Amino acid sequence: MKVKGNSEGWSLEDSLEELGQLVRTADAEVVGTITQRLSSPTQFYLGKGKLEELASLKKEWEYDVAIFNDELSPTQQQNLEDSLKVKVIDRTALILDVFARRAQTRDGRLQVELAQHEYLLPRLAGQWSHLERLGGGIGTRGPGETQLETDRRIIRDKIHRLKDQLESVRTHRALYRQNRKRRGIPVVSLVGYTNAGKSTLLNILTHAKVLAEDKLFATLDPITRRLVFPGGGEAILTDTVGFIHKLPHTLVAAFRATLEELGEADLLLHIVDVTHRNAPEQSRVVEEILGDLGLRGKPQVLVLNKIDLVASKDEDLEEGPIKSCVEEFRDGRESVALVSAAKGWGLDRLLMMIQENLALKVGNRSRSAS
Ligand code: GTP
Repeated sequence: MKVKGNSEGWSLEDSLEELGQLVRTADAEVVGTITQRLSSPTQFYLGKGKLEELASLKKEWEYDVAIFNDELSPTQQQNLEDSLKVKVIDRTALILDVFARRAQTRDGRLQVELAQHEYLLPRLAGQWSHLERLGGGIGTRGPGETQLETDRRIIRDKIHRLKDQLESVRTHRALYRQNRKRRGIPVVSLVGYTNAGKSTLLNILTHAKVLAEDKLFATLDPITRRLVFPGGGEAILTDTVGFIHKLPHTLVAAFRATLEELGEADLLLHIVDVTHRNAPEQSRVVEEILGDLGLRGKPQVLVLNKIDLVASKDEDLEEGPIKSCVEEFRDGRESVALVSAAKGWGLDRLLMMIQENLALKVGNRSRSAS
């Protein structure tokens, strides 16, 4: 196992720990880690000495894959594979692999497949196997085309078909959302860093049975449940894919059909695992991705979760040392809720905040209509 690279306020250790978690989620084992600080990556990504060191560790570690905590250029990847004689994977490919394992519905699989093909296209030159057999063999190659050109064409055709299929998914979803809107039921969407506890919260608020696991990206496909408020009234609660530091652009683009659900939401619940060492960085990553999706201005309740790991009982949430940790995250926001989704703490207050925010939105809507 081989790793390097870090940026934007994450310590090297934290970033590597997260990479290790991704590796375990992909059912692989980390046998060793080496790091290097370079002012700029080489054609081999690493410096010559480090590359030799890594190659010499092959006997001792018996590694058969080298994973880099960064996006490698196709040339770097190829050079590394030639030198190390093992499979070389970058952070993007690892995340794509985890997503591919997690996607359960047809829509989810289509989106991952698109991202995988987009990733593969510029890297085809180094692929060991030909794609010709997948595309039908004899008769598929145009005059004078090289094998590589044929392979590229097959991948482009596949991307085209996947995009077409996803377009019909988007149209279908948009119709469904329009119907929902017509019925006037507000939509609340959960967003958050992977493993923050979105599914656990959705389960407890709606008595659903969505898989919640201590693994990254346990939920990938959008899930929609009915949320009934104690004093009457209801909303639709939706859970979508979790976010992660350096989420590959190919994935964000491919998951447009899923992420568009967020655009239609009346309110976002931004769930943070407040006990995580990198909680502030993680919430910043979520805000950045929301910004990229054009959702920065959307009404939001910040939900600080897993409070049971730092408080002994429900009542502690209102007072004491926990309150000061809230201030760190508040950053001018009005709606901040402390909860333990696992223990069911703080849910009444959270539900009240959701209702208040939705009422406000409905109020704004009727004002702008008049
Ligand atoms: P992704 O699917 O990766 O996006 O994760 P998620 O945000 O849906 O998280 P999930 O609900 O799967 O929870 C992740 C882990 O955190 C699971 O092991 C949960 O049991 C645990 N967890 C969630 N909420 C709490 C909480 O309030 N307290 C504690 N102690 N653990 C929690």
